[in-house]
Amino acid sequence: MKIRVDKLIANMGFATRSEIKKASKKGAVLVNDEVEKNFGRIVDTDIDRVSYFGDPVEYKEFIYLLMNKPKGVISATEDFYDKTVIDLLLEEHTTFNPFPVGRLDKDTTGLLLITNDGELNHNLTSPKREVPKTYKVTLESDIEEEDYNSTFEKGIKLMPENIITKPATMEVIDNRHCYLTIKEGKYHQVKRMFEKVGNKVIELERVKFGALELPSDLELGEYIEITKEDIID
Ligand code: URA
Repeated sequence: MKIRVDKLIANMGFATRSEIKKASKKGAVLVNDEVEKNFGRIVDTDIDRVSYFGDPVEYKEFIYLLMNKPKGVISATEDFYDKTVIDLLLEEHTTFNPFPVGRLDKDTTGLLLITNDGELNHNLTSPKREVPKTYKVTLESDIEEEDYNSTFEKGIKLMPENIITKPATMEVIDNRHCYLTIKEGKYHQVKRMFEKVGNKVIELERVKFGALELPSDLELGEYIEITKEDIID
């Protein structure tokens, strides 16, 4: 890709365009090992080697972030009233204009993928792909394992969409905790499934999404950068 060198360095999160302009005059920008004081110089990211204060500036088009979403933030890029997951990112990541892949409710915690890769987003959220998502569920009342299992296996009618949920699998942890794996992502789906069997979800945490697992040491609100290969597996 051909791009102005100051824009490349700014887009890769090193500094703002105005900082880069000043620094370039002092010799902070090298193109192919030579000082480049013309911050408007067009470089070709496939050919030219750029560095900023000695650090190589590698061009990347896409970014992939795995967040442990906390409660109280919205899985969206903008919200009029509430903080969004994008508000929790550093500027070096927001510069890529990322967005969340699918949605978690405001009060749901756990694994949320954030990217600017539209094709990957489509592949992971397309109903045809049936990407599995596993939730750790805390319930208000005791689990009736056999009853729930047969209902979730058969599917539940969701209204007003008028659809039958695809077979879901439940793994019981104890009387009031289980893992539920679903292969679709309808609005409030897990909460509505447990409501249908006469129970109530009081805590919901997503622990798996396709090949991704929530790292046990990732605190709420924290995130890590991952690669496309981690996601596709
Ligand atoms: N199902 C729900 O009910 N809520 C979520 O956030 C995700 C799945």
